[in-house]
Amino acid sequence: MRRFQGLTPLIVVDGPAASGKSTLARRLAEILDIPFISTGAMYRAVTLTAMRRKVRMTDHRALVGIARHLRLKFTGGKWPAPMKIMCEGRDILREIESPEISRNTSTYIANVPEVRSAIVEATRNHLTSRGLVAEGRDCGSVIFPAAPWKFFMSSSFQSRAHRRWIDLRKAGHQVSLKSLLDDMERRDREDRTRPKGALLAMPDAWMVDNSNLEQVETLGLMLRRIDPDAVV
Ligand code: C5P
Repeated sequence: MRRFQGLTPLIVVDGPAASGKSTLARRLAEILDIPFISTGAMYRAVTLTAMRRKVRMTDHRALVGIARHLRLKFTGGKWPAPMKIMCEGRDILREIESPEISRNTSTYIANVPEVRSAIVEATRNHLTSRGLVAEGRDCGSVIFPAAPWKFFMSSSFQSRAHRRWIDLRKAGHQVSLKSLLDDMERRDREDRTRPKGALLAMPDAWMVDNSNLEQVETLGLMLRRIDPDAVV
């Protein structure tokens, strides 16, 4: 049987904050041996670079310059070894997960149309004949509307908050439960209502609610959808 029904394996995984999409997308890419890209990490890396260079979050010209020159490399050992996100010679994975970067990214950076255009273009440039697993908010609606496999992850607010809490602690960021819940609510609202590139489930996306599923079960469902003969 021809792998991926003879199509280029372009797989998009969208969903709200802490819906588990990053881990699932990374696992899919690894199992299927396809390159992986996190568009959320790209927006976060623009924020981090701007903060390091003391660029104001309202200085659109400078922000767009950063976005256009952004070069990220997603590397790392096989699961469960942590992934590395290399930017200007450093692994920025932990740093970009901070609550301050999450806040500045959704309130400022993700709202700048030219920053969005630069990230859309850079993401498209990652697609080769090997295919791509791309995760984010607008991968299925704006970046790759013709992708043959589209997933939209959802999860109850409670499960997402729990997941985010664990991730933040693992990354060494201390936050109170109240500020975590407030931040998630605000980010959900901003991500769903921004004029360009809002979080959107396309009618042709496969909806996956993983509130009551173990990660391996969700992964199995997704893999079978992509390749019905996959052995999970
Ligand atoms: O997915 P992640 O939580 O890392 O994304 C960080 C932020 O980047 C999101 O809250 C959103 O504001 C922005 N983003 C976006 N479009 C994408 C991916 C992320 O606006 N495709």
